[in-house]
Amino acid sequence: MSASRIQHAGLRQKIMSAEAAAALIRHGDHVGMSGFTGAGYPKLVPAALARHIEQANASGETFRIGVWTGASTAPELDGALAQVGGIEMRLPYQSDPTCRARINAGQMEYIDIHLSHVAQFVWFGFLGQLNVAVVEVAGILEDGRLIPASSVGNNKTWLDQADKVILEVNSWQPAGLEGMHDIYYGTHRPPHRKPIPLEHPGDRIGEPYLHVDLDKVVAVVETHLPDRNSSFTPPDETSNRIAAHILDFLGHEVKKGRLPPELLPLQSGVGNIANAVLSGLNQGPFERMTGYTEVLQDGMLEMLKSGKLAMASATALSLSPAGMTEFLDHLDFYRERIVLRPQEISNHPEVIRRLGIISMNGMIEADLYGNVNSTHIMGTRIMNGIGGSGDFARNAYLAMFMTPSTAKDGAISCIVPMVSHVDHTEHDVQVVVTEQGLADLRGLAPRQRAQVVIERCAHPDFRPALRDYVARAERSARQGLGGLHTPHLLDEALSWHSRFEREGRMVA
Ligand code: COA
Repeated sequence: MSASRIQHAGLRQKIMSAEAAAALIRHGDHVGMSGFTGAGYPKLVPAALARHIEQANASGETFRIGVWTGASTAPELDGALAQVGGIEMRLPYQSDPTCRARINAGQMEYIDIHLSHVAQFVWFGFLGQLNVAVVEVAGILEDGRLIPASSVGNNKTWLDQADKVILEVNSWQPAGLEGMHDIYYGTHRPPHRKPIPLEHPGDRIGEPYLHVDLDKVVAVVETHLPDRNSSFTPPDETSNRIAAHILDFLGHEVKKGRLPPELLPLQSGVGNIANAVLSGLNQGPFERMTGYTEVLQDGMLEMLKSGKLAMASATALSLSPAGMTEFLDHLDFYRERIVLRPQEISNHPEVIRRLGIISMNGMIEADLYGNVNSTHIMGTRIMNGIGGSGDFARNAYLAMFMTPSTAKDGAISCIVPMVSHVDHTEHDVQVVVTEQGLADLRGLAPRQRAQVVIERCAHPDFRPALRDYVARAERSARQGLGGLHTPHLLDEALSWHSRFEREGRMVA
């Protein structure tokens, strides 16, 4: 790699191997790593650390660290460290299969925090001292300022709060990213907080570079390795039907005058359904839309390209290999239309409420009354984490949650009497969508919501059992057992889940 990515003479003196840098991390350290949804994570130091931990373990020594990130990373980070049992505690969102297995086996602690909370919890001291930051950057300027990479995440906080800093300078990261970021340094602890001066998704309120106290930098490691750019499967019939219901609904809201013709800024969750919705919007009637979201996926890139989307703000790029090629080939075009911010700003409740975001996120299951489980399989096993879904849902103009109506070849209904874990309460959920239809829960009381959720969203195979549950819950309440505001059969409310655990299907 050419030394031109590291222009600061003093930091050039600190270039060393990933092994030497990893040796500066100690057992018990809290390590803040860059990385958000497979973008901008350090690629060499975590793997070198994993080898170091493996050797320590082999000689009978305990070596485990706390890993804090922006969100999910990649096999080279989460996978490698989890594989050797090197993670004592992980936060926030993760999606790595090895991590997930270890967490659910009780071999690793996991704290699922709203993404907007992570940075401030560290400033508040709620999580203890951050010992080391390992942050990937695209380059270092002559004066020591850092060009951020393909994600910003919590990097500003890690650089600011850590005792020691290790920088991975990745020349694979496009040099043309310079100028795309907007790092806001105006956040303070209460009682000294000021309003965040962001009124439109494209506003730039900070500066394009990250700062670091150069005395804290203990190592600089050079890399030239790609992000984890996963491919998307083309939208299937189910995702297309979910997307069509959402498009119809948005069109209806425009006709009613509750949304402007260009809609309001869109937040779109991760995954194939989200991409199908964006691809539907790209074919649909709305023009000059904007995005204020967490992760910019291929769907939004295509909308920017077609001009349907005027601009998009995010904290990370998460592109497929084809999306990355398109992005690199037209970087000047995209730099004018994309702003990458710290996740404390991309997910900030104040900003989300002010901008009036249309939030669209995937879920695992919803219940009759509109409570949503985004994180737990059968109430006990973590899938990924809440990510930013709570930041957006609670503060959005419109909070929508979407899922296929069934899972595991129809053995599971994603509409259940009572969710087995609550991430988003009935108070934060306005719209539930499955391929069967869309339930608009606004202005409905609990028993009215149950009717709409069953008739619009549940799979026809499960509707009779759900209707029967509601009817019996109401009868029981009328007979004096329980109330009629939110009727439930408490002995039965979670029986669908326990039957699935025992028999492999939810309903007899
Ligand atoms: N009960 C049990 N398992 C279920 C289920 C249910 N109701 N619904 C889905 N599943 C299983 C699927 O069968 C699949 O299992 P597999 O991995 O063994 O095949 C797995 O859960 C994932 O389901 P899938 O339909 O592929 O989900 P997805 O990729 O659309 O992701 C979430 C759905 C909820 C896991 C995902 O959206 C998520 O992590 N959300 C939380 C964070 C978030 O919203 N982030 C964006 C905010 S900005």
